[in-house]
Amino acid sequence: MAKIHPSLKNKEFWYKDIILVANRLPDFEREEVDLTTHFTKKIILKTPIVSSPMDTVTESEMAILMALMGGIGVIHYNFLTIDEQIEEIKKVKKFMGGFVFEPVVLSPKHTIGDVYKINEKYGFFSVPITKDGTLNSELVGIVTHRDVRYREDKTTKLENVMTKREKLIVAEKSKTVDKNNLQLAVKILRKHNLDTLPIVDKQGRVVALVTDSDIRKRQKFPLATVDENQRLRVFIAVESRLKLAKERIKKAVKMDVDGIVIDASVVFKEQIEIAKFAKKNFPHLQVVLGNVDSGEMIKEILKRAFNFCDAIRVGIGPGTACITQQQLGVGRAQGSAILDCALTMKKLEKKYGFCPLIADGGVKNPDILKKSEVWKPGDISKALALGAQTVMIGSILAGLDEAPGEKEFDEKENKMVKKYRGMGSLEAMEKRGAFRYGIEKTKIKVPEGKVMKVPYRGSGYEFLPQLIAGLKQSLQKLGFKNIKELQKFVDIKPINFC
Ligand code: XMP
Repeated sequence: MAKIHPSLKNKEFWYKDIILVANRLPDFEREEVDLTTHFTKKIILKTPIVSSPMDTVTESEMAILMALMGGIGVIHYNFLTIDEQIEEIKKVKKFMGGFVFEPVVLSPKHTIGDVYKINEKYGFFSVPITKDGTLNSELVGIVTHRDVRYREDKTTKLENVMTKREKLIVAEKSKTVDKNNLQLAVKILRKHNLDTLPIVDKQGRVVALVTDSDIRKRQKFPLATVDENQRLRVFIAVESRLKLAKERIKKAVKMDVDGIVIDASVVFKEQIEIAKFAKKNFPHLQVVLGNVDSGEMIKEILKRAFNFCDAIRVGIGPGTACITQQQLGVGRAQGSAILDCALTMKKLEKKYGFCPLIADGGVKNPDILKKSEVWKPGDISKALALGAQTVMIGSILAGLDEAPGEKEFDEKENKMVKKYRGMGSLEAMEKRGAFRYGIEKTKIKVPEGKVMKVPYRGSGYEFLPQLIAGLKQSLQKLGFKNIKELQKFVDIKPINFC
């Protein structure tokens, strides 16, 4: 059993107030630590990190990065239209796959410029060409990067550069897709040294593609969080407003979103209605409720909605850009919130079953601009040690290239920075953020978040492996090979009070 110092149960504490005591002699290397965990009841991650649904943190680029690294991204809903958010899901789902169903197609009369537009939007060049430019008509050729890369005249028609159907190697749908036999398709692709293998039905229509770049991506990112068709998994945030959420969910499901986070700073009753709607109509969709900060709230959710809820977000006001605690006097120190929720969840697991907790917010350096570079994998270990299955992060990720927004030079700080804003800040609420705070109809808006700057951190493809290695190193120092062991045997002591 985990050893939790008794004083921790009676006092409010943050990550900085506790320390994980090393009591074992580790006899394994850092790289042997396995960080596999449950994000939701059904979705397992190899990296316990989730990016926040905030408009300065997660759109498709961040969601792709997170899923490639074994975590997951939750795309925010602070767009002007629902369709803009849906388009972001599409970009993630199109990034890689096994069989790429419903590929983007063009007609022979389209131009090289149209292929570049597709590349700009989705990042690929291979486009099947069909007679009338829809999936319902016959495949007549294919255009790949090779066919367009040295052509300067972007108005050239694709019929003049494509590889024609009679020269194409294709695979039959009945032997590959219908039998879910990706191996066979990959074998054909490799044997003929192809960039792209179109898969066609009896009528000669293209039903799917298998591409070499997808295969290479899968090899390069072995931790990637993928769905049954090897596409990256992605979640979206939906507002805690039944009517709007219904519309958003229906559209997102059509794009094969993996789950939804019903967003609210404090869980409230309309969420349960939305969760019921989602689960009844789309049982495979994973649903996250929240936020909560106490065992009492966990009890209430489990009682009212265990079957409609696949994970719960813990944290009211601990986030770097949050001012809920200062402004409204509501919330809790994040360490105590996780411990209380986790202990209650453990107690009730026999009665209801398992439901993972997401520790949301507070992995940060409070003097983020004043101190030198600080990113704290140790805070993630502490959240996991206290009983969370994953950690949701905003501010640390907001400084990456993959977060929305441009980097800029801050003269006062003499360093490169990026903007980070709470979704409850007045600035974010001007768009759609007010839904999170349940006050979109009222004229008077009370801010619960602020706008700030965070240090620019460069590419997430370099930063995240460091963060993950730091987390593994923390567990290795404690002598734990995985999160289960950490949660079972950890020794947690207070350091800033007794
Ligand atoms: P970090 O500390 O990682 O926290 O930056 C990210 C989390 O902060 C929450 N969030 C807010 N909380 N007012 C709040 O009280 C806000 O304006 C706000 N915006 C985001 C959110 O849960 C996120 O995951």
